[in-house]
Amino acid sequence: MVVTLIVTAVAAVVVYEFMWRYLALRRNIALAKTSGLPVVVSPWNLFSLLWLSTYKLWTPLLHRFLPASLMGTWTDLLHPEWGYNRGHEPFEKLGSDAFIVASPTRISTYVADAEAINQITSRRNDFPKPLEMYTSLDIYGKNLVTTEGADWRVHRKLVAPSFGEKNNELVFNETLHHARSMLGLWAGPDGRGNLTVTDPSVTAMNFALYIISGAGFDVRVVWPHEEGKKVNEEQGEDRAVFGGSKTPPGHTMNYREALSQLLHNITWTQIIPLNWLPKSPFKVHRTVGEAVGEWGKYMDEIYEIKKAQVASGENKAGMDLFDSLIRGSGILDKKNTTTTKSDLLGNAFVVMLAGHETTANTLHFSMIFLAMNWASQRRLQEDVDRIFDSKPMSEWKYEEHFQKLFGGVPAAVMNETLRLLQPIVNIPKSTPPGRPQQLTIGGQQHTIPGGSHVFLSAAIHRNPKYWPPPANEPSTDGIKDVDRFRPERWLTETKATDQFVDINYDDEELRGPSGEDTSAQLFKPVKGSYIPFSDGFRSCIGRRFAQVEILAVLAAIFSQYSVELAVDDFASDEEVERMPKGGKERKEVYEKAVQRANDFLKNKVASIITLQLRGVSIPIRLVRRGEERFAFD
Ligand code: HEM
Ligand SMILES: *[C@@H]1O[C@H](CO)[C@@H](O)[C@H](O)[C@H]1NC(C)=O
Ligand SMILES: *[C@@H]1O[C@H](CO)[C@@H](O)[C@H](O)[C@H]1NC(C)=O
Ligand SMILES: *[C@@H]1O[C@H](CO)[C@@H](O)[C@H](O)[C@H]1NC(C)=O
Ligand SMILES: *[C@@H]1O[C@H](CO)[C@@H](O)[C@H](O)[C@H]1NC(C)=O
Ligand SMILES: *[C@@H]1O[C@H](CO)[C@@H](O)[C@H](O)[C@H]1NC(C)=O
Repeated sequence: MVVTLIVTAVAAVVVYEFMWRYLALRRNIALAKTSGLPVVVSPWNLFSLLWLSTYKLWTPLLHRFLPASLMGTWTDLLHPEWGYNRGHEPFEKLGSDAFIVASPTRISTYVADAEAINQITSRRNDFPKPLEMYTSLDIYGKNLVTTEGADWRVHRKLVAPSFGEKNNELVFNETLHHARSMLGLWAGPDGRGNLTVTDPSVTAMNFALYIISGAGFDVRVVWPHEEGKKVNEEQGEDRAVFGGSKTPPGHTMNYREALSQLLHNITWTQIIPLNWLPKSPFKVHRTVGEAVGEWGKYMDEIYEIKKAQVASGENKAGMDLFDSLIRGSGILDKKNTTTTKSDLLGNAFVVMLAGHETTANTLHFSMIFLAMNWASQRRLQEDVDRIFDSKPMSEWKYEEHFQKLFGGVPAAVMNETLRLLQPIVNIPKSTPPGRPQQLTIGGQQHTIPGGSHVFLSAAIHRNPKYWPPPANEPSTDGIKDVDRFRPERWLTETKATDQFVDINYDDEELRGPSGEDTSAQLFKPVKGSYIPFSDGFRSCIGRRFAQVEILAVLAAIFSQYSVELAVDDFASDEEVERMPKGGKERKEVYEKAVQRANDFLKNKVASIITLQLRGVSIPIRLVRRGEERFAFD
């Protein structure tokens, strides 16, 4: 009797749920169709937490048991990374650079058309960010990433002035300092190189972390392998406040540890409520929970130091981001009481988060791509030699050299890495509930339903409409040109001619450093077709910061070294040594490493916050220039 009741109740719930979903799906399909865009019907919303955490279970089953006749674009689109894995192909199949996916709980539009992207990024209030996807970034306070409308304006205005030329110079200096340390780790203390770096992404992460720490907060972190040594003789200055591995009084973690525990395992703070973390039975959770508190304490202390500096009239003009942020807010001299401390800490945290993984990935993947493309690597080295005219690194200057890097092969390498491996695959936007929005694509009007999601797809970076293949070099290996790492595509003879169109901020203080930044020497893509930093009002405020960091570190590495994939898994050093230089055998061994790297890049890349290799690594070796083992062709 009881059992029957329970079974009936469960059945009723299941039937109800099923009916509800079915009706909701029908409604959403009908709504999606009013747009006139192709509609793909999907039983699940790709970005629902349930699907994201279980798709690895379901998708193999689907591919195994679903009859081929039922498969189609909808099954392709069930992979959260389809915009990366499949590139532009789904758009081609559907014959449109914009389409809608209708699921029972959500209507989502995907866009890989430049005209449409320009409309979306310039109509800030018509296509706001879906804030529900960002709330977990509020752990220290509201900030310019997690707000919209009038709130966002206040935060953006508070933060934008920090990203000025002075800070860029500091980024340049900090990058050269930490690049030396990184090279000491990768190439060994004697600088000879030829050591296998099993997972270069780990070092790249630390590198990016220490740069944002220095240029963001004026904290000079000491690398673990340099602990206790006197390194990088320059600057015997007063700032390494929390740099070393000693834990200062009142703390349970040193700064370096707090920072890396917090940022490298940040995902837990997104899944588990903050005040539960310390009570979790799992150590990882407790450690992250502890790091959240510890980093907050360090920020408090830095804040107090700055406050004291201002009070004593000490005018150590703010070059790091946090300093400008605090001084600019007026919070210290009580001129302005609108800004709260939580605004400062919230923004400081989110700037650090946004500036960390993204640049780390760019460095990491640039190294991998260059190791697989010797001709481009050689070209990069020649250009770096030209730019610095064999000056030692201690004489490199931001004001003299950055512009040259920016117009040269280093910029082409950075651009090409970000074209192929954009850290954020789907840039999320939305339409406000009850307010459908018009989009004009190729002269056609389309109505995007209100209350839906709109994603700017990284697939646009592989849309052949915008990325033409080279004129006289037909592909011989069947790989599409858009899928190839070819920095040379940015180095065209035809100079950029069309006028730069920037958005019209109604208030210049919102802008940050994101005005005209195209160097006349490089290929200029159609506006809206190249969006690694997003575009328009909500574009990346740290773009210039990232460019300075990446260009300077590439220059530091390639002025002295070449990068090769490590082949340890395919041949020992002795075996390689016995193979004639430049001979067929060495080529074959290297080819194996290249194939594995390509396989990993295709199949082992996934996003948590940004797109990264997951669960595998691609080992590399730095070798002194001229001592390459897999000699350049
Ligand atoms: C290669 C490196 C980088 C890439 C590819 C990148 C990419 C992006 C993208 C795509 C957005 C828009 C996100 C969205 O709409 O959800 C964004 C926003 C942002 N980025 Fe970056 N970023 C990079 C480096 C940095 C750095 C170094 C910083 C700071 C030091 C930074 C700080 C920010 C901030 C604060 C925002 C929010 C801006 C706003 O909404 O007004 N980013 N970035
Ligand atoms: C950067 O380093 C140079 C010396 O190489 C120095 O003159 C300059 O003041 C430094 N700038 C900043 C912002 O640290
Ligand atoms: C690289 O190191 C291996 C052993 O560690 C050695 O056999 C080889 O000769 C070295 N190659 C160069 C170019 O130094
Ligand atoms: C993060 O968590 C993992 C386990 O999930 C742990 O192995 C690692 O040490 C933690 N910390 C960092 C900085 O990655
Ligand atoms: C105080 O700061 C806020 C936001 O930064 C700004 O909107 C306001 O105008 C400022 N007020 C004064 C008196 O400076
Ligand atoms: C890359 O390309 C874009 C688009 O043309 C340009 O604005 C930017 O300055 C280039 N360079 C770098 C280093 O990002």
